[in-house]
Amino acid sequence: MTQLSQKHLLGIKDITEKDIQLIFDTADTFKEVINRPIKKVPSLRDITIANIFFENSTRTRLSFELAEKRLSADVINFSASSSSVKKGETLLDTVNNILSMKVDMIVMRHASPGAPHFLSNHIDANIVNAGDGTHEHPTQALLDSYSIREKLGDVAGKKVAIIGDILHSRVAISNIFALQKQGAEVMVCGPNTLLPKHIASLGVKVELDVRKALEWCDVANVLRIQLERMQIKYFPSLREYSLYYGINLKLLESLNKEIVIMHPGPINRGVELASDVADSKHAIILDQVQNGVAIRMAVLYLLASQPGA
Ligand code: CP
Repeated sequence: MTQLSQKHLLGIKDITEKDIQLIFDTADTFKEVINRPIKKVPSLRDITIANIFFENSTRTRLSFELAEKRLSADVINFSASSSSVKKGETLLDTVNNILSMKVDMIVMRHASPGAPHFLSNHIDANIVNAGDGTHEHPTQALLDSYSIREKLGDVAGKKVAIIGDILHSRVAISNIFALQKQGAEVMVCGPNTLLPKHIASLGVKVELDVRKALEWCDVANVLRIQLERMQIKYFPSLREYSLYYGINLKLLESLNKEIVIMHPGPINRGVELASDVADSKHAIILDQVQNGVAIRMAVLYLLASQPGA
């Protein structure tokens, strides 16, 4: 298979295991490219991509922009905070105005779940979801699985615990779909208030005790508390959360086994992850970021290579 099954990358739920393997195989080639002295290829020379971000981002926005530039695409960046969205323009009007400037592809982050799906019903350009509210963050899940594969040789058969604020996490949902499609076992762990009520129906194990989750897993993907999405209090204080769910070196070393520690960023140091773990040999957090560029190059390249694109 040399083509993706979908015109857009809206979520991991919509793509197949074969799509994931094609993206990984393509990312292998681009990873080799970005480690060369000349890190650029002409693959998307005639393509214009708009990165439209309605929510804050550091890693995803920079990673997409770098991926696009490494592929020689023309790039325009839009951030809602400094745009006419502030004057009341709708999402569709904003995007149609951008597309009328002959843009071929849209990379979009939006606070509303389903915003990129809505757009896909109204425009012809390829759309990549760079995170829609609490729904999905497909390229994050792809780079996470790719990093597990790189570190442990394979994703199939591995036990992955996703620990923290599962309730508000698009990273958790996309990771669950991606890991299960590749044959990994998935557990979610956090305080009851931060676990979605019906999460077990996705076929994941549910654990409230972080030590038990760490004893079970080969990989722990640690998530931050998303205070910006909380209108009510889900736990008494960050100090208490850190006491019961924070992962530090003392806890890790008491397990007498090796665990790979991942984090999608941004880290709240001293809350979900202590610095002595985040900066340790157990963590592959910066490898994840590095792999993000190759994964995004692969996604953009494959979408642009589709017939009629
Ligand atoms: N992992 C992630 O999505 O980080 P940003 O919010 O900084 O893009």
